[in-house]
Amino acid sequence: MFYKVKKNSIQEFLTNHLYDHLDSNTLTPSLNLKLIFLLMYRMLAPSLFTYYFYNNKYAMAEKILELTDASIFQRESLILNDVTLEVNEGEFVYLIGKTGSGKSSFMKTLYGDLPLKKGVGTIVGFDLKKLREKDIPYLRRKLGIIFQDFQLLPDRTIEKNLQFVLKATGWRDYDKMKTQINEVLEKVGMKTKGFKFPHELSGGEQQRIAIARALLNDPELILADEPTGNLDPQTSVEVMKVLQDINKSGRTILMATHDYALILKYPSKTLKCDGNKVFEVVQRAV
Ligand SMILES: Nc1ncnc2c1ncn2[C@@H]1O[C@H](COP(=O)(O)OP(=O)(O)O)[C@@H](O)[C@H]1O
Ligand SMILES: [Mg+2]
Repeated sequence: MFYKVKKNSIQEFLTNHLYDHLDSNTLTPSLNLKLIFLLMYRMLAPSLFTYYFYNNKYAMAEKILELTDASIFQRESLILNDVTLEVNEGEFVYLIGKTGSGKSSFMKTLYGDLPLKKGVGTIVGFDLKKLREKDIPYLRRKLGIIFQDFQLLPDRTIEKNLQFVLKATGWRDYDKMKTQINEVLEKVGMKTKGFKFPHELSGGEQQRIAIARALLNDPELILADEPTGNLDPQTSVEVMKVLQDINKSGRTILMATHDYALILKYPSKTLKCDGNKVFEVVQRAV
């Protein structure tokens, strides 16, 4: 009964006000039309609110990497035990610890160079436990990997180095390759150096090229294993600035380092490898 009355009154309201308004053949929204929008908004607002928060990246950041009770092995020897951590989209995370503490072994497990034998791990949508040999190239396409020793091919120019990676990862169109190469070189401030050979560049410049190479396939996560390990302090800062810019543009970075000066200069979330464990350490602001 009540429902019927209510329904009738709404119909009446609509016929009297909304349809009247449409009949009047004017495009200026009348006060009544505004009222209807207001009513509709009030009805929809709670669900819009919920939708927004469930889809908001800041409210619910996407996990790029998640490990639960994972153990890292080098053959039979246990390097890190019970590793539980997560890295969310957009974060810049340091992995610190002295030489031999397991940083590289940790990184290798993440890019499929060492198997995850124990525990649970997912990275950029791949299950590390179920990772097969044939999945590894696809995993690495979603990762940008940067090493301490640059690892550029010495027998060809920078442009050919980058083209080599694109071809190996399925690119065919030379114009598109050229555009992509220019774009990544620009991001690391090396746009004019494409014609040079690696040995014609300084260490810092070579590392920038290695960063550009890591960006070629638009990776979801960049893994950098001591990227400044072979560089002098000032060049390290320059390379670090490039990585910071890349992170500010929204990319997630996990960087192993033992360069504490850099960490103090660019503070960020820090994980430490020590005594077969990985744990988060709180940094004091400088
Ligand atoms: N290829 C390997 N085979 C066997 N043991 C290794 C290998 N590489 C590293 N290790 C051992 O794993 C431990 C951790 O090394 P690593 O992950 O390279 O540490 P970090 O990168 O922090 O210096 C060390 O004890 C090292 O001797
Ligand atoms: Mg190492």
